Amino acid sequence: MAGNKNLHRASREKNDEFYTQLVDIENELKHYIQHFKDKTIFCNCDDPEESNFFRYFALNFEHLGIKKLIATHFDAEKPTYKLEIDRELDLNADGKIDFADIQRIPLEQNGDFRSPECVEILKSADFVVTNPPFSLFREYVAQLMEYDKKFLIIGNQNAITYKEIFQLIKENKIWLGNGFNAGNAYFKVPKDKAKQYVKGVYDENTGLVKFRNCVWFTNLDHAKRHQEIDLWATYNPENYPHYDNYDAINVNKVKDIPKDWTGKMGVPITFLDKYNPDQFEIIGLDRYVEDNPNYGRRFSLNNKEVYARILIKHKQGGENVK
Ligand SMILES: C[S@@+](CC[C@H](N)C(=O)[O-])C[C@H]1O[C@@H](n2cnc3c(N)ncnc32)[C@H](O)[C@@H]1O
Repeated sequence: MAGNKNLHRASREKNDEFYTQLVDIENELKHYIQHFKDKTIFCNCDDPEESNFFRYFALNFEHLGIKKLIATHFDAEKPTYKLEIDRELDLNADGKIDFADIQRIPLEQNGDFRSPECVEILKSADFVVTNPPFSLFREYVAQLMEYDKKFLIIGNQNAITYKEIFQLIKENKIWLGNGFNAGNAYFKVPKDKAKQYVKGVYDENTGLVKFRNCVWFTNLDHAKRHQEIDLWATYNPENYPHYDNYDAINVNKVKDIPKDWTGKMGVPITFLDKYNPDQFEIIGLDRYVEDNPNYGRRFSLNNKEVYARILIKHKQGGENVK
């Protein structure tokens, strides 16, 4: 899939310069508006002059009841700055807090999210909301966990299969957000980076690239996470073969999960988009399931390795057909 290939390439070449559109931020953030009242929000991978994350929260500062908004600018080579909006600082004294009340404050360091200065801001924040560099995703999430922050961030769907990230998903410390429209995410790229993308992915007219496998990762609760997947299929051995090397059945599509199989099932990673922790239990990720006799290798069917599978079980119910 061309979009995926380009995302891999973006990660490989450490080309982390693609910018989230306001409409995508609005579409996701509308599911969490109750969370931000009286809170401090930090956008720590956002050139505040350009970032639509900063723009979104500045536009909605009063509506969401935010206490403070901070965004830091990163430049590997030199000290940078942050922009702040503070509920207590109505700079133009017009009785409302908005773009007119932005303070531009120099940083002593370069705005790296790992720099001591940014870590201090992180400690003071309640929420982190951004699209961080995909090439540093593991490190980025580890830092959020270390400082026990609430977050909503964009990442590559493949990050689900990173061992450390999957462990957090399994422990219900991270889950997916609501997602992009039909799974298609469009990002703005600087003109000089456009040539890195194959034809059909970069649109010259809009200046946007299309990525097929971007998702939102969060630890904020939302309604979709509590909706049950509607199941209709019943188990039969032809459609749901057992793996050669592990005691579980293979399910190729999430919509085909058999409602009556009470054993383990391997499902595609897109399952997480519909995962309701009250309906299913996540046992592990194929290669890293503890009792995988070929630990580190995926499951196979007829001696052919099956692409990444999450091992799940129904939480309750279903007649045991084993
Ligand atoms: C995928 S882009 C997204 C930018 C912005 N958050 C948005 O969504 O429009 C990731 C951004 O992180 C910045 N970045 C790269 N390494 C960083 C670091 N170590 N600390 C902070 N920001 C970094 C890049 O300059 C880039 O602008």
